[in-house]
Amino acid sequence: MILLGVNIDHCATLRQARYRDAGGSTGGAIEPDPVALALLAERAGADGITVHLREDRRHIQERDVRRLRECIATRLNLEMACTPEMTQYALELKPDSVCLVPENRQEVTTEGGLDIVGNRDRVLACIEAMNAAGIATSLFIDPDPAQIALSAKLRAPWVELHTGAYANAGRTARRQDEFERLRRGARQAHELGLVVNAGHGINYVNIAEVRTLPHVHELNIGHSIVSRALYSGLEEAVREMKARMNGRTVASSE
Ligand code: PXP
Repeated sequence: MILLGVNIDHCATLRQARYRDAGGSTGGAIEPDPVALALLAERAGADGITVHLREDRRHIQERDVRRLRECIATRLNLEMACTPEMTQYALELKPDSVCLVPENRQEVTTEGGLDIVGNRDRVLACIEAMNAAGIATSLFIDPDPAQIALSAKLRAPWVELHTGAYANAGRTARRQDEFERLRRGARQAHELGLVVNAGHGINYVNIAEVRTLPHVHELNIGHSIVSRALYSGLEEAVREMKARMNGRTVASSE
């Protein structure tokens, strides 16, 4: 069975659109509360909750992360830039795992995988600090043979293969090439002993193909689930994705 990490960043995006300057309060009119929604996602079967604490704090805030650490019953996966400040932050917070991602202030969302080859020393320092603290490190990388090989060499336990290029290819001819790259990448990572996760741009349609990738342990999915929740409610949206991930198509009565 493939596990589902639900990324709740965009629950906070909606709150920040109106209440960016409201400070700490979460009661009363300040809504939606991403922590309450994380608990609903868990109730519907999420295997973990993922948040990206971005340097520009455009959605998730430090307070959200602290409250999640206290409240959720599954695993907390903290996506973060590979900087000494965020490493220190994670060591104090003690999430179950961190996922190292590239960060660029201008981007709408994480655009490409982290360049492990070009940032080897910084990445290694972070992996070693996390390994020593018992926090699993995942490296968000493109399905590129050199990036995968170095991820294993640096003793990261997990990789998350970036599915964005595949998802963005939509129905064009490029999609099959991108899927083939992902398939080869998943095999290589598995053979090197890495736990293989994947994420970015996965939705209720392309999941039918993504779920056939070999060796996938967990998918991290955010935007499509939060968008679907506007129609169906979050619990239904999570249940439906979990059903589709595991080859079932009916979720509404579960
Ligand atoms: N995995 C990683 C590492 C990400 O940075 C993101 C986006 O924040 C996701 C998964 C989720 O992507 P999406 O919102 O497109 O499902």
